[in-house]
Amino acid sequence: MKYFEKIKNAPLKEGALILAIESSCDETAASVIKGGREILSSVILSSMTEHIKFGGVVPEIASRAHTTAISQAVEGAVKDANITLGDIDAVAVTYGSGLIGALLVGVSYAKALAFSLGVPLIPVSHIRGHVSAGYLADKSLQPPFISLLASGGHTAIIDVKDYYTYDVLGGTLDDAVGEAFDKVARVLGLEYPGGPNIEKLAREGDNNIELPIMLKGKKGYDFSYSGLKTAVINYVHNRQQKGEDYSKADVACSFQCSAVDILVKKAIKAVKEKGYNVLSVGGGVSANGYLRQSLEKACKKERIKLVLPEKKLCTDNACMIGAEGYLQYLRKNFADLDLNAKAFVELTAGGENE
Ligand code: KG4
Ligand code: ZN
Repeated sequence: MKYFEKIKNAPLKEGALILAIESSCDETAASVIKGGREILSSVILSSMTEHIKFGGVVPEIASRAHTTAISQAVEGAVKDANITLGDIDAVAVTYGSGLIGALLVGVSYAKALAFSLGVPLIPVSHIRGHVSAGYLADKSLQPPFISLLASGGHTAIIDVKDYYTYDVLGGTLDDAVGEAFDKVARVLGLEYPGGPNIEKLAREGDNNIELPIMLKGKKGYDFSYSGLKTAVINYVHNRQQKGEDYSKADVACSFQCSAVDILVKKAIKAVKEKGYNVLSVGGGVSANGYLRQSLEKACKKERIKLVLPEKKLCTDNACMIGAEGYLQYLRKNFADLDLNAKAFVELTAGGENE
């Protein structure tokens, strides 16, 4: 019998063991997740140090690094989970969004593994994975809730109506928040990745530079980080051209406050407007200490329950792919062996309202 015919009709197992693979950017990650909520293992290998001198992730270097790291990541995840490959019930893999060559390494590996084990292959959207990190952070988390997504590629406020139905209330009209952090960092001469370095520098500065208010006068949940980024860049270039002194720490702090405060404000507004009482947060920027503190403070004041995954579940990892993979497993969203990587996947892909 052909592979897909066989797995399509395979009975589902409660508490299934999902082996998840993530390779969309510079992290080669593998994880074993039980029943979508329990992390049995998590391996994250990164090629970050190879990209630093270029000021950003170089796709070809990332792809090559994945090819050498993927076996180690998967073998490590299986070993750390104290299981054997034969115990795996399904293989979940990020098929997009991300760098196409990087994604292909994970997708090809996952296909071969699923086929050889005779188990389902589950295609997972990276961004949906970031949302599902919340289910690992709080085992009792259940929709409906609002998810604030803040990563290098996305900024969005999502109404998670049920496990599969997302209503995207707003998103960025131009740059993503993480992208703005990285670009501002570059102007300040900080190493890639910019986010954590801006955070570090901002601790030594003050929020004393006036920056434009984002989408002034416009209601709704959209964001625009391009104007903010340009204002910071202009400020720095002006000072440099005039030969005037300026404090890089103050620039970092003022930018961080402007970039983060609006995320908190809009996320809280969405929770209240929808009449929910839970806010979950995901994506690399949610590892930012100032954002985390601001959310904690605001949620406490508004009596909103905050689901804030630990930092290593906010940045790219395979656990979140396993959590989302389990949800897709339950609805039998299985792929055949012609599954391809996609550079761009819609926020709603993999859901009921796809
Ligand atoms: O979610 P992620 O790891 O990858 C994407 O899916 O994009 O997010 C990466 C982004 C980068 O722009 C990085 O600078 C940012 O998250 N980031 C941070 C922090 N840690 C990572 N931004 C601000 N503060 C941080 N501590
Ligand atoms: Zn990500």
